[in-house]
Amino acid sequence: MKKRTVLTGITTTGTPHLGNYVGAIKPCIEASHDEDVQSYYFLADFHSLVKNQDPERLRQSTLEIAATWLALGLDTRRAVFYRQSDVPEIAELTWILTCSTAKGLMNRAHAYKASVQENVDAGEDPDFAITMGLFSYPILMAADILMFNSTHVPVGKDQVQHLEMARDIAQRFNHHYGEIFALPEAVVDEHVAVLPGKDGRKMSKSYNNTIPLWLTEKQLRKAIMRIVTNSLEPGEPKDPETSALYAVYAAFASPQQRASMREAYRNGIAWGEAKQQTFELINRELAPGRERYDALVAEPRLIEETLCEGAERARAFATPFLARIREAVGIRSLV
Ligand code: TRP
Repeated sequence: MKKRTVLTGITTTGTPHLGNYVGAIKPCIEASHDEDVQSYYFLADFHSLVKNQDPERLRQSTLEIAATWLALGLDTRRAVFYRQSDVPEIAELTWILTCSTAKGLMNRAHAYKASVQENVDAGEDPDFAITMGLFSYPILMAADILMFNSTHVPVGKDQVQHLEMARDIAQRFNHHYGEIFALPEAVVDEHVAVLPGKDGRKMSKSYNNTIPLWLTEKQLRKAIMRIVTNSLEPGEPKDPETSALYAVYAAFASPQQRASMREAYRNGIAWGEAKQQTFELINRELAPGRERYDALVAEPRLIEETLCEGAERARAFATPFLARIREAVGIRSLV
């Protein structure tokens, strides 16, 4: 059986939060142990440059995200774990793909269109503060994916359009230059929980309702105590299906734990008690990683070495593959 090639990128903006952990980090790390999969996970620092032009923040976020994945047990012997900018072949492929990508395709990108719409609504020039980086973002992402002949790309729903664009770009290239690229598929896991944030809406940086992953035990407890609940008193039955607190609990719980917590809700558990149990469950899961994380962040050299090794392995595939692509488009030796 041909191995599947699974690839996904993590934009290096901000600090990882519980929503990232449940929605992406944990499932990817679990998949990294699967023998039938060749996985590539990378820090998309070129992508983050589109939004983040603060050099120190970019570095800090790269450090924190890399430390997080390593602390949580990513199998870096099996999975290839690297920083996008350490693989110059990706940037070169981006240009090659840019030259055969229709501008009209990019005009349709949701993120770009939303920025234009915001400008129009605000009475600004439609192009106000829109960079070519934002406009061409999907081409860089296509290069990330096509560079490794990825077949399966786990992403959130918001990235599905980018995957369709990567397929379009690959197909157009293949049609013109011959069968070079595998056609990638988005993998959107409907079972992975979308974690609500402290206010009950989806946990997201843009809503400012996140719970950072690496709080101290005390801070984590405090953050969980702040998750919104309603005014039902202890002893009054509570509905787990509409409770953000229950959804957070469920994302970390086993099926048995979920069943007994639902039972406790119906039997009128006090919100304070439900919060305490939620805190304990999450803290138990994160405590061992927290220690490793603190040790790694204090020793960035180890992370740097791991990323450099990852880039070497990534380039072992990318360098010869890019040579084929150059050959195909006519960037060739004259003799
Ligand atoms: N755009 C993705 C996001 O914001 C991150 C990303 C960059 C990515 N390159 C990728 C995801 C390649 C999957 C494959 O989440």
